[in-house]
Amino acid sequence: MRAVKVPLGARSYSILIGDGLLPALGPECSRLGLGRRCAVISDRHVAPRFGRAVQRSLSQAGFEPVLITVPAGETAKSLKSVKVCYNHLAHHRLERKSFIVALGGGVVGDLAGFVAATYLRGIAFVQVPTTLLAQVDSSVGGKVGVNLKAGKNLVGAFYQPLLVLCDLDTLRTLPAREYRAGLAEVIKYGIIYDAAFFEQLERELPQLLKRDPKTLAAVVARCCEIKAEVVAQDETEGGLRAILNFGHTIGHALEAISGYGKYLHGEAISIGQVAAAKLSAELLGLRARDVERITLLFQRAGLPTRLELGPARLRQLRAAMKLDKKVAAGEIKFVLAASIGRVKFGQKVPPPLLDKILSAKL
Ligand SMILES: NC(=O)c1ccc[n+]([C@@H]2O[C@H](COP(=O)([O-])OP(=O)(O)OC[C@H]3O[C@@H](n4cnc5c(N)ncnc54)[C@H](O)[C@@H]3O)[C@@H](O)[C@H]2O)c1
Ligand SMILES: [Zn+2]
Repeated sequence: MRAVKVPLGARSYSILIGDGLLPALGPECSRLGLGRRCAVISDRHVAPRFGRAVQRSLSQAGFEPVLITVPAGETAKSLKSVKVCYNHLAHHRLERKSFIVALGGGVVGDLAGFVAATYLRGIAFVQVPTTLLAQVDSSVGGKVGVNLKAGKNLVGAFYQPLLVLCDLDTLRTLPAREYRAGLAEVIKYGIIYDAAFFEQLERELPQLLKRDPKTLAAVVARCCEIKAEVVAQDETEGGLRAILNFGHTIGHALEAISGYGKYLHGEAISIGQVAAAKLSAELLGLRARDVERITLLFQRAGLPTRLELGPARLRQLRAAMKLDKKVAAGEIKFVLAASIGRVKFGQKVPPPLLDKILSAKL
């Protein structure tokens, strides 16, 4: 088992990574001194697979878990689900010392974390992420929240878990497309923070695609370390944390104009990161060879990299980018790479250049 620390003073916590870790959940929660009653929030795909093992581990450690199941997919990240969860928690008399376990992908993690942040003005919560995206990204760092009709993640909080437990075995049942989408975030860490890690991914991608346990353990751990380092320096995104959004300005806009569902998040940010690499070549001197390496790695991971938009779609995409909640005073700021492993945030991109990159055949 590997352990990665997220150092946030009194709110520090550990990310535990390894195979067959679900049975360790109960004992780990005991060590944290949590109250007896707890709720496991999961979705309809994940609960039937892992709900029982999680409940058993908690019960054997002396806890009294109740299982709350929400529908699978992004629509479950709604205020409606929040209300359903609150009612269950109240019905089962969860109290201030009680806690919530988020068992599932990023949807369940964001939803359950928001419920934990607000129920009784905040009760403890533990993340048990079961998608690659959730293990390397969404379960770490404390961003929790739900969507509104007007847009994604418009309601939320910064609320750190007490523990993140990544059981790599749970990834075995993840559909291939979801797994590849998670790889888009994995590759992102190499580009934004660690050239050696990017090279490691170039070498070990075949093993990673086969979900080889050893490779996966090292890769998930390195991603969590990078995210932890970034979050520890800038928990509430005053500056540096923005680098985690590399490729996301374009990616989010693409998700929005395509109707959520056409592209998975990882697929949209794969296209977004390749476009950002091309902008980086023009504006920060990223070498053409490195743009190629970035494009090739996403392609080898089975992710889309191409985008050819006609004038009407381009206008839509530009408008969607301006609606992004990270836009300040109408100005879109990008994260761009000077080299693989080194990025700068807050970069302005001249609109004609953006149009050129987005409409060119990539
Ligand atoms: N909080 C953050 O910092 C942060 C960061 C990135 C993304 N997110 C959020 O994460 C969400 C996306 O997360 P996701 O990609 O994990 O999606 P998801 O939670 O919808 O999971 C994807 C699909 O896989 C299924 N699934 C999950 N684990 C499985 C398993 N082990 N075996 C079989 N099926 C499994 C789910 O039921 C779902 O159908 C988005 O809402 C996004 O906004 C949050
Ligand atoms: Zn992302």
